[in-house]
Amino acid sequence: MATQDASASGDFMIGGDLRVTRLGFGAMRITGKGIWGPPADVGEAKRTLALVPELGMDFIDTADSYGPYVSEDLIAEVLAPYKGLTIATKGGLTRHGPNVWPPLGRPEYLKQCALMSLRRLKLERIDLWQLHRIDAKVPAAEQFGIIAQMQTEGLIRHAGLSEVSVAEIEEAQKYFPVTTVQNRYNLVDRKSEDVLDYCEKHGIGFIPWAPLAAGSLATPGSTLSEIAAKLGTGPSQVALAWVLKRSPVMLPIPGTGSADHLRENVAGAGITLSDEDFAALDVQGKAAWKAAS
Ligand SMILES: NC(=O)c1ccc[n+]([C@@H]2O[C@H](COP(=O)([O-])OP(=O)(O)OC[C@H]3O[C@@H](n4cnc5c(N)ncnc54)[C@H](OP(=O)(O)O)[C@@H]3O)[C@@H](O)[C@H]2O)c1
Repeated sequence: MATQDASASGDFMIGGDLRVTRLGFGAMRITGKGIWGPPADVGEAKRTLALVPELGMDFIDTADSYGPYVSEDLIAEVLAPYKGLTIATKGGLTRHGPNVWPPLGRPEYLKQCALMSLRRLKLERIDLWQLHRIDAKVPAAEQFGIIAQMQTEGLIRHAGLSEVSVAEIEEAQKYFPVTTVQNRYNLVDRKSEDVLDYCEKHGIGFIPWAPLAAGSLATPGSTLSEIAAKLGTGPSQVALAWVLKRSPVMLPIPGTGSADHLRENVAGAGITLSDEDFAALDVQGKAAWKAAS
């Protein structure tokens, strides 16, 4: 079994001045079914959160819409005042029930999102606030403008975007420095390769959501099983080792509400894939992605 310390994944400087350990924690799964309401096992969710810093992770991704509010509330309850931890949150989505997430990008709402996240997380300033989605119904200038304003006012330190194209990043850069981009990306979902390459070229942190393909890459029999067996490890660890090796700006945030799964995932930080294994997985992953799309 590889070492259980996330620090083996190395560091990244968000915006050039906020150091985080590359392998982080996705806090969407400490909520109920459909990311709605409390988790089925609140005690296990709290144990999982408490384990995050013990395993050397210091970067947690959440959003006001997870639960909604449940994820931020639990993070504050278990981990505030966050000695050495960076809590990145998001705003800009409303919730109308399980698995329903209509965007709302009106500037006054985005500012309310950040202000309420500050209160729930018990923070004076949010280290990284991300626009969960650009709302097509609201001029982008208004959404980017309020983010710049929130930075000037000191509500947020760094700002990021989620599910965006290179053109959208470049447009947002006219208003504020885009320090992170959070797009869906994993071995078998490669639609954001161009965005990842752009982020690497410009020193922007790339946060791949669903790095385990929402769990399908963590199951035995997945495309990773052969190499996992060869390395004497599990498929989730190989999936994470692969994204970590793919780029130095990669900040994976595997999500789980299970302490055992968290331990397994953190062990992925200690696995170094050979160039041959990386390339073989790359070919397999691209083929699986093409077949599915
Ligand atoms: N920006 C966005 O639009 C967006 C969208 C979705 C998610 N996110 C963020 O990205 C994070 C990661 O995405 P995700 O949670 O959807 O997908 P993921 O990390 O690819 O996979 C999470 C799923 O895999 C399971 N899992 C985790 N570790 C496992 C292991 N070792 N063995 C077996 N199963 C395992 C989890 O179930 P258990 O809980 O049972 O372990 C959960 O169902 C989220 O937590 C959230 O912070 C962002």
